[in-house]
Amino acid sequence: MYEQVSHTLLNEILNRIKPEISEQDLRHFYTRLGANFYGIHSLFQKLYGDRDDFVEQAQKLVEIMALQYIRRPKNLRQLDLDREKDYNWFLNQKWVGMALYCKGFADNLPSLRKRLHYFQDLGINLVHVMPILRCPEGSSDGGYAISDFREINPELGTLKDVQQLGHEMSKRGILLVLDVVVNHTSDKHYWARCAKAGEKKYQDYYYTFTSRNIPDMFEQSMPEIFPETAPGNFTWDEEMGRWVMTVFNDFQWDLNYSNPSVFIEMLNIILFWANQGADILRLDAVAFLWKKIGSSCQNEREAHLILQLLKDCCQVTAPGVVFIAEAIVAPVEMVKYFGEDAVIAKECEIAYNATFMALLWDAVATKNARLLNQGIKSLPVKLDRATWLNYVRCHDDIGLGFDDRDILLCDYEPSKHRKFLIDYFTGDFNNSHARGLPFGQNPKTGDSRISGSLASLAGLEHALETGDNKAINDSVKLILLLHGMILSFGGIPLLYYGDEIGTLNDDSYRDDPNKKGDTRWVHRPSINWEKAEQRNTPGTIEYEIFSALKRMIAVRKEIDVFADFNNRELIEVENPHLFVFGRYHVQHPNNQVLIVANFSDTPQHLNLEELGGWQSQHRNLVDLYRGESPDIFKSNLVVPGFSFYWLRGR
Ligand code: GLC
Ligand code: GLC
Repeated sequence: MYEQVSHTLLNEILNRIKPEISEQDLRHFYTRLGANFYGIHSLFQKLYGDRDDFVEQAQKLVEIMALQYIRRPKNLRQLDLDREKDYNWFLNQKWVGMALYCKGFADNLPSLRKRLHYFQDLGINLVHVMPILRCPEGSSDGGYAISDFREINPELGTLKDVQQLGHEMSKRGILLVLDVVVNHTSDKHYWARCAKAGEKKYQDYYYTFTSRNIPDMFEQSMPEIFPETAPGNFTWDEEMGRWVMTVFNDFQWDLNYSNPSVFIEMLNIILFWANQGADILRLDAVAFLWKKIGSSCQNEREAHLILQLLKDCCQVTAPGVVFIAEAIVAPVEMVKYFGEDAVIAKECEIAYNATFMALLWDAVATKNARLLNQGIKSLPVKLDRATWLNYVRCHDDIGLGFDDRDILLCDYEPSKHRKFLIDYFTGDFNNSHARGLPFGQNPKTGDSRISGSLASLAGLEHALETGDNKAINDSVKLILLLHGMILSFGGIPLLYYGDEIGTLNDDSYRDDPNKKGDTRWVHRPSINWEKAEQRNTPGTIEYEIFSALKRMIAVRKEIDVFADFNNRELIEVENPHLFVFGRYHVQHPNNQVLIVANFSDTPQHLNLEELGGWQSQHRNLVDLYRGESPDIFKSNLVVPGFSFYWLRGR
C-alpha cells in the first residue's frame, strides 16, 4: 500500500518539478523511496502527524528528496551504487582520519588543497575539515555558529574551492568529512534576522518566548554547556523583544525541530552538502535536537526519531553518504545514536567514542588501567554496520564523561577522583607535568572539563622547559601509546592536526578578545610549517612522533582484524597497569592480534598463562608495530614503561 501511496504522491510531485527532470533516469530513486517510504512516512507522522499542514509538509519532504536526487552529480550517483554493494566500506581498517581547522592548518581552502600530500605522507585518508561556512565576524565558536548554510566563509574561499578540494581528494583516495551544524544557527542567519524583525514564521524556527515563564521552567532541569561564557540557556533579544533559547553561546540560536519546516530545511542542507561531494557528514551536537520541559533537553527520544528520519531520507537521495554523530554523552546514551532498536545502524553509522577518549586520559593520570578496563567492560556492544570514531583529543574540551558506577567499582570516590583528574591535568597536582587548563568550570555543580594540546597534557611542554631528556622521551612514548590505542581499538582513528608533530599549547588566544574567554583555543593551533618540516630530520621531536605514527598507520592498514566487526575482546589481567585486548577475525578466529599497553612509567609484566584462549601462540610472538619479538621471561611478557605491543604469533 505504501508503495502505491508513494507512487501517486511522487508522480504529483514530479509533475510539479518537471522542468528539472527531463530525461532523468529515476529508477534508483523510485526503488529506494519504495524501500524507505514506510519508515519515512511513519517517522514523519510520529513527529508531525498532529499538525494541520501534515500532508503538505510530507509532500514538501518528498519533493526535496527528489530535487536533490536530480541534482546529484553522476559520479556521486555511481559512488552510491558502488557503496550500496560494498555496504561495509567504512568499517575497513584502511581508513585513518585527521580533523582540522582549515584556517589553522593552511590559511584557506586553495592552500589546503596544496597540502594534501602531507596527509598522504602520514597515511591519512579521511579528513574532517571543520566549519568553513559564513559565520559572524568576531566570536563564532570556531565557525560552529553558521550564518549561511550554503555560503563559504570568504576568508577561506568559495564553493568552487570546496568542489575542487573534494575532487582532488577523491582523486587521491581521501575521504572528505564536512560538518552540518544541525542544532543551531548564528544570530546573523537569515532566519534569525527575520525572527528579529518580527516575522512569526521565522520566530517559529527557534524557541522564542515573550516572558521568562517558560524559560524558567526549562532552566530547572537544563544543565549549562558553557557556564563561564554563556550562563543559562536563554538570551534576551532586544530587537525581537523576546527570549530565545541559546544552549551554547548567546549568539547560537537553537533550532526548533518540532516545526517540520525546520526539519525539511535542514534535510535539504544535508543533501546539498552530500551533493557537493562530502563522503561523510558530521552532524554536530545531535544530542540536543529535541527540547522538553522537565528534561535535560539531551538524548530525548524525538532527537533519535529526527536522526532516523534524516538517515532514511538520505538513503533515498544519497545512500553513499554516511553520518557521524557528535554526541558527547554518557556511554549508554552514546551507542543509541547508531539507532536504538535497529540491527544495522539506522541513525548515524559512526559516532565519537568520547568514553574511550576520557578513559584513556584517566589511565594517563592514574598511570594504571583500572578505570579504563572497567569502563570498556561496561561499554555497551554496538550494532553491526556501525563504528566508532576513536580519538585522543579533538578541538573541544576533554570531559570526564564516564560513569560514576564504574569509578566506584574501581574503589575511587567519584567526586574526589574527578577532582584529582582535573587537578592533575591543570597542573595543580603534585608531580604532575601536565599543562592543561580548566574549561567549563561550574561552581554551582563543581563540574569542570579540560583544555590543552595533547603534547602539553602529556608532559612534553614541561619536559622541554626543564630540558629533562628522560621526561621528553617519556612524553613522546605516551603520545605514541595513546595513538597506538585509537589505531587498534576498533573503529576509525581520528588524529587531531598538530598532534602528529607534538604541537604544544598556544597561548596567543589570550590576546584575542573574541577567544580569550574560551580555553579550548589553547589547543587549536596554526601549524608552523617550518617546524613541521623537521618531521624529516631525525633526532627532532617532530620526526620522532611523525615517523612513528606513520609507521603505526601503515602497519594498521595491513592488519585485517583491525577492521571493526565488533571483533574485540577485553582481556582482564591481574596487573592493573596493563590494558589488554584481543582483536580476531570473525570467520577465522585463529587470526588474532593481541594488544598489550602499559600505562605506567616502569616496565610491567604479563603472565601469558593468564590469557586463556589467547595464549596459544605465545612462544613465537612478534610485535607487528616494531617488527620484533618482545622480551619474554619464563612466560612473562615484559612491557616497557609507556609502551604497547600489537602481537601476533609467527
Ligand atoms: C560541538 C562542537 C563544538 C561547539 C558545539 C556548539 O560540540 O564540536 O566545538 O562548541 O558543538 O556548536
Ligand atoms: C557540549 C557538547 C560537546 C562539546 C562541548 C563543547 O558538551 O555536548 O559536544 O564537546 O559542548 O565544549
